[in-house]
Amino acid sequence: MSEDLRKEIQRLRQEVMRHEELYRKKHDPEISDYEFDKLVDRLHDLERRYPQYAGPDLGIGDDKAEGFQQQDHREPMLSLDNTYDEADFRAFGDRLKKALGGKNLELIVEPKVDGVAVSLTYEKGRFIRAVTRGNGVRGDDVTHNVSLIKTIPRNIKNAPDFLEIRGEIYMELSEFERLNREREAEGEALYANPRNLAAGTVKLLDLEEAKRRNLSIICYGLGTCEPPAFKSLREFKDQLKTWKFPVWDDLPLQEGIDNAWLAIGQLDNLRRKLPYPTDGAVVKVNRLAEQERAGYTSKFPHWAVAFKFPPDQAETVLKAISMQVGRTGVVTPVAELEPVLLAGSTVARATLHNADEIKRKDIREGDTVRIQKAGEIIPQILQVVLEKRPREAKPFNFEKRLEELGLDAIRLEDEAAYKLRAPSREMKIRRLVHFASKQCLDIDGLGDAVAEQLVSLGLVDAPVDALQLKESEWRMLEGFKEKSVDNMMTSLASAKNRELWRAIHALGIPNVGMQTAKDLARHFKSIDALEEAKLDDLLITHVGKKGGITTESVISGVGIEVSKSITSFFSDPNHRDWVKAMRKAGLNLIDNTPTTTVAGVAGKTFVLTGTLPTMGRDEARDLIEKAGGKVSGSVSKNTDYVVAGEEAGSKLTKAQELGITILDETGLMKLLEK
Ligand code: IVH
Repeated sequence: MSEDLRKEIQRLRQEVMRHEELYRKKHDPEISDYEFDKLVDRLHDLERRYPQYAGPDLGIGDDKAEGFQQQDHREPMLSLDNTYDEADFRAFGDRLKKALGGKNLELIVEPKVDGVAVSLTYEKGRFIRAVTRGNGVRGDDVTHNVSLIKTIPRNIKNAPDFLEIRGEIYMELSEFERLNREREAEGEALYANPRNLAAGTVKLLDLEEAKRRNLSIICYGLGTCEPPAFKSLREFKDQLKTWKFPVWDDLPLQEGIDNAWLAIGQLDNLRRKLPYPTDGAVVKVNRLAEQERAGYTSKFPHWAVAFKFPPDQAETVLKAISMQVGRTGVVTPVAELEPVLLAGSTVARATLHNADEIKRKDIREGDTVRIQKAGEIIPQILQVVLEKRPREAKPFNFEKRLEELGLDAIRLEDEAAYKLRAPSREMKIRRLVHFASKQCLDIDGLGDAVAEQLVSLGLVDAPVDALQLKESEWRMLEGFKEKSVDNMMTSLASAKNRELWRAIHALGIPNVGMQTAKDLARHFKSIDALEEAKLDDLLITHVGKKGGITTESVISGVGIEVSKSITSFFSDPNHRDWVKAMRKAGLNLIDNTPTTTVAGVAGKTFVLTGTLPTMGRDEARDLIEKAGGKVSGSVSKNTDYVVAGEEAGSKLTKAQELGITILDETGLMKLLEK
């Protein structure tokens, strides 16, 4: 018996570690968050009951990342114990009642938002820093990115000397969908779910990229408060509301566990209408004195619990597996389903990720499958319902299917994806549309329909070919008479004088979106220089004392993946020919943004903080850069000027501490006019 227990705990630990690695390192989870939580809970439960077989803490959930300063929490940020059914939940109520001496419970029931926990520190009413949960004791300082959330007050009146406010940073579903639509247009892989995207955004080192993604926050908890000022969570939340923090202010207090259970049920019905992702409900004791009496373990409080909603699931028939080819030639298998209602919307397709996933789950055409929508917007196939498998269903042969469809694709080394060896017709069209789009060379009149004709007529193979077509060739297109040919010639002529970043973006280098293209243009100043860039020009490698290797980006936001993508793109002779053809067509391939160096600005480093009265931050940045100055994201002793607007936060404080010259908008304009 004891030997079995020891083995079971050992097995669970390995299983948990394997899934944690799949999730965090490979970003390719095999199971849903819900199933993962259950697994971890089972392990913890066994280890608690049989401590003689328990191993060292696995550090599950620690969000520590490279490139961030660590900060201690004054009051630890605990996690929550999970419950999954009514009996579980009522057992929590019984324990609580006993601990509180049978007194009637006064409870708060809130949605459990699926995001990232954060602690906001205020000293003497001033916002000082934002820190992630980390291991609960210390986390990463993410003040930079969190400061972009406009609903966080920078200053609060009549505040205690020291205050830690806890909340959840999340991404609204509509924002998640907006960003994914952009990704799709860029031909890049879609983000899996809003939670991961919120977590990734909080940890971005590239402030420009972080600005493009809107995060939100809701505050629900209290850490250290000195001197103590609140008697209950309700009172605290009322104060937060007065200070204008986003809070839930319309949730009634629940008397007793029965009412709390009813409130959980109501939330479960309501949650699909909420603009943010939720994965459960959180139930907590309202009065702080009672929280103290109920106490804590090292991992979670006894005065609160999470109830996890099971993810929405449905069964349906997988009619066929189709292959989707992206702009960059990556082939993604897609499940074509018998339409079925799931979590309020009809689902007819699901992602299958890659060939390995189909094989691992032995998914066959004709199978009945269980699909699930958890935090994911795009449903996943969980498993095959084997009892319902038709006799004639055959194992899916990925490579054979590619062959049947005439897709000449190979599997890249070390990668799960198959990629076309040569571009398909569809790819050629999508590449050309991208090349001519508003975010690239902005060739007026060259949209989907024209691109399709150009490719079908064999006039365009590589997108650059479009630049060199003769008038007689344009006339071959349906509906292209004198006037439209003239217009096209004018469009093409103006496309030749555009900014360098547009030409870079137009190349369609995988993982290089518009912002990265701009950063690359600013750094390299010409396509020639970018083309010749080696990995060493993009990444600085440090070898640690113990032989460990870490890399640092030369251009913020251009990490290992993007750097490899760039060098590998230009190692293809075809792509080098594209650049040659661009040059031959007379396209501008150098950074021609005029810089008129202004003495006093040139060579100086500026930091922008707060909201300026008339100028946007991008505008201010542009003006400084055009005058030869540099704009950096953080204040250090190398900063020459801090330009501060309304509600400037910790950067201003730091600048004052370091004695750096602080300018307002007028001050900046004066400096620029010199
Ligand atoms: S209270 C000491 N309330 O869930 C307990 N947490 O699994 C403090 N979360 O780390 C947590 N919504 O990131 C609380 N309304 C809510 C929440 C919430 C989401 C997250 C939070 C916490 C995790 C625990």
